[in-house]
Amino acid sequence: MKKKLQIAIDGPASAGKSTVAKLVATKLGYIYCDTGAMYRAVTYAAIQAKVALDDDQKLAELLTDLTIEFIPGQPEQKVIVNGQDATKQIRMPEVTNNVSVVAAQKSVRADLTKRQQEIAAAGGIVMDGRDIGTTVLPTAEVKIFLIASVEQRALRRYKENIAKGINTPLAQLEEEIAQRDYKDSHREISPLTKASDAVELDTTPLSIDEVVAAIMAIIEKKQAN
Ligand code: CDP
Ligand code: CDP
Repeated sequence: MKKKLQIAIDGPASAGKSTVAKLVATKLGYIYCDTGAMYRAVTYAAIQAKVALDDDQKLAELLTDLTIEFIPGQPEQKVIVNGQDATKQIRMPEVTNNVSVVAAQKSVRADLTKRQQEIAAAGGIVMDGRDIGTTVLPTAEVKIFLIASVEQRALRRYKENIAKGINTPLAQLEEEIAQRDYKDSHREISPLTKASDAVELDTTPLSIDEVVAAIMAIIEKKQAN
């Protein structure tokens, strides 16, 4: 039987991480864990509870009894926060534009990192985020760092939004993505950075299927060793 691997997929906003991570997990029969959704869930819960988004102490208290559950499904998995379906709410602009502030707080990172390590403990996991290969799963057998030009990433988000009936100007999306990347790369704890042993894939010219095929080839090579 093939060994169950831990697969870490990191990279900047809208590089295609969750789309390809989900497909790779399905192909392998592995669990998929969207760690960005967990940071979004905390941000959403903090906004609801009117907790200042940079108040580490208050966020730590909020996290004490905050539950985040994933229910697998198509086209997207459900994200349940404190027993309520928050799948749509965690993608709202108010959450998207504030999540990097919450994600920079020490207690939030410590708490969610622990939860993510527990989810991954049994192996057979594809986990995507910003610090999976560096901090959450530093011994993951496969580490992928997905990149794409900011213009291409904004265009992908733009098309995704249009399909959902949302028309945010392309220039605004580009600006928001660039700002989030900057904050995520410059924070003190676990900044967005490529692990030294990660394989970098520039997906700018690649389709989703081409990215999945490239990742599967890396995984199969690992499994053959
Ligand atoms: O899908 P998108 O690129 O918009 O972002 P996401 O993966 O949903 O992550 C949302 C935010 O959560 C990121 O911009 C980071 O601030 C934070 N995050 C993080 O700090 N560490 C992770 N492992 C995953 C996400
Ligand atoms: O998780 P992350 O923020 O990195 O990106 P995503 O939400 O998986 O992908 C952002 C958008 O880009 C989605 O609409 C994907 O369908 C699209 N995409 C694409 O067009 N080509 C790729 N090679 C990867 C993703």
